[in-house]
Amino acid sequence: NLSPIDTAKFVAAKRAVDFVEDGMRVGLGTGSTAAWMVRCLGERVREEGLRIAGVPTSTRTAELARQVGIRVISLDEARWLDLTIDGADEFDMDLNLIKGGGGAHLQEKIVATASDQMIVITDPSKQVEHLGSFPLPVEVIPFGWQTSKALIEETLASLEVLGQTSALRMNGEAPFVTDEGNHIIDLYLQRIGNPRQLSMVLNQIPGVVENGLFIDICDKVVIGHQDGRVEVID
Ligand code: A5P
Repeated sequence: NLSPIDTAKFVAAKRAVDFVEDGMRVGLGTGSTAAWMVRCLGERVREEGLRIAGVPTSTRTAELARQVGIRVISLDEARWLDLTIDGADEFDMDLNLIKGGGGAHLQEKIVATASDQMIVITDPSKQVEHLGSFPLPVEVIPFGWQTSKALIEETLASLEVLGQTSALRMNGEAPFVTDEGNHIIDLYLQRIGNPRQLSMVLNQIPGVVENGLFIDICDKVVIGHQDGRVEVID
């Protein structure tokens, strides 16, 4: 018996997994919605004998994928993928996304970009008119992170984006550490007028590894509702 929100995530995940075909190399996203997708995919592997290889986007997802019986390979083994299925923190009508609430957006962006198709699975709460209410994650290397943070804030000021505060993501008393050993600066922007421009300028700053904006990467959004209905936008 699933809660309403888990029902929404589950039905979206289940529908998205229908797009996976025998022999595919599949990128496996990270987060609570993506975890449903990994479980559903594992079920198809066990019950239908579906032969696929999964490329996980985090250590968490890799562990779950192995548990449910999915053959896990690295991106370097796969090189290119047929399909990636992942969650998101926000999506707009152009299917641009904010990701990285779980801190995995660096691997997620590499894997999604290496895929012929990216499908996002979500509940309706992530749909927005303009990206930016959700804090935008920017992954920075630990060396000189305070300088990188100051440079990010200076850049935001020059872009005249609404809201220019940023904060180092914490894990209790210590800075959060990503799978790649980096830190995350979350940007509180309220509304991002030009996501493409912001993404490009952020990635020009020394010390910045990658930001959570996914521009022109997502092909389809599968929205699960709490009553079990599913919508597909592409
Ligand atoms: C992980 O870093 C994120 O990009 C996730 O995809 C995002 O946080 C969505 O997670 P939920 O499905 O748990 O909301």
